[in-house]
Amino acid sequence: MNFSELPSADGAWTGLRLAPGALADDTAIDGEAAIVVAGGLVRWVGAAAALPADFAALPRFDGGGALVTPGLVDCHTHLVYGGDRANEFAMRLAGASYEAIAQAGGGIVSSVRATRAADEDTLYVQAAARLEQLLADGVCAIEIKSGYGLALAHERKQLRVARRLGEAYGVTVRSTFLGAHALTPEYAGRSGDYIDLVCREMMPALAAEGLIDAVDVFCERIAFTLAETERVFKAAKALGLPVKLHAEQLSDMGGAALAARYGALSCDHIEHLSAEGIAAMRAAGTVAVLLPGAYYTLRDTHLPPIEALRAAGVPMAVSTDHNPGTSPALSLLLMVNMACTLFRLTVPEALAGVTRHAARALGIGDTHGAIGVGRPADFVLWQVRDAAELAYWFGQRPLRVAVRRGRIASGSLA
Ligand code: NIG
Ligand code: FE
Repeated sequence: MNFSELPSADGAWTGLRLAPGALADDTAIDGEAAIVVAGGLVRWVGAAAALPADFAALPRFDGGGALVTPGLVDCHTHLVYGGDRANEFAMRLAGASYEAIAQAGGGIVSSVRATRAADEDTLYVQAAARLEQLLADGVCAIEIKSGYGLALAHERKQLRVARRLGEAYGVTVRSTFLGAHALTPEYAGRSGDYIDLVCREMMPALAAEGLIDAVDVFCERIAFTLAETERVFKAAKALGLPVKLHAEQLSDMGGAALAARYGALSCDHIEHLSAEGIAAMRAAGTVAVLLPGAYYTLRDTHLPPIEALRAAGVPMAVSTDHNPGTSPALSLLLMVNMACTLFRLTVPEALAGVTRHAARALGIGDTHGAIGVGRPADFVLWQVRDAAELAYWFGQRPLRVAVRRGRIASGSLA
């Protein structure tokens, strides 16, 4: 893919209907809207009838009444890895639990083996194919975590692939260092030593190479303790890096409250989140990232506390959590559907969850997740009558055109 060869979207886009909540300034446009794109950015947006005369000579793109949303944001993925874990899927069907598989040397550690065995170009090609699937659903910004290398050279390899994908596809990539994802066999019984390695060696080196936008930890009884998590957060803070957390997925570890104390961008999964965790997240402005694909794949039955999050006004994002073990999902719109069906989000909540709240979970809420003047021209024209259809259909791709960074990146108006 050579992004710079894609057709330019510079010009006046008319015949648009903006989905509720699409605009960064929270205004609404009744009737036909127009967006002017110039040099990769939104230059003007408003009612088509009010399009300033100076833009009249620009190339015209007639959306024919298409519904428009901001470019979608997938704020939690583990997109870069070697191999797959279809065998574990079969094991789980035969009754083994995620935790039992992990304890038996499968799970994350088996993906670590496959990731270490793959070279950077192989990882790139495999991840690019997956990224293309997500982009076909209107994703314009994505988070990609490391965490399947668990040694400096292999974590670097994953993060470099993440950066390369961003450049090649013109997609905004935020890369998250998840060195504290699992304990590899060489550190069995020595998790303190491994956390030393993460904090003293891997994180400073990768940060110095400009490969880290945020730092994450898997805080869970099958992964790292609260105290280990805090050590990683302290190291991140010392390097000026924002943190986020895989928190309270399988049990209530108190991770969310700790993360909130460190000003976390987001706490993710949170099926077992407590009232204290919610209060702490609210006070810190931390986003709750809901991952229905993992909930579904693990056949979890413990719902995240949606009603309490809603009542507290904690922003809720929705993401694929794409990973080879617990969420081999390659459609963010399917996650929108599942967030509504499984978690009972309303349609506007679920759509905000894959746009503005997802952007905020990545620390890019000022530029992404909503359409506004001066922001990157990331928006999607959909082949649907009503915004509710984006949550309603599943297994189809209603995308008509995706404009990414001012280029027509998918579909066409023809
Ligand atoms: O977000 N919870 C930890 N990390 C992933 C699973 C990774 C894996 O099983 O490979 C998740 O679900
Ligand atoms: Fe995850």
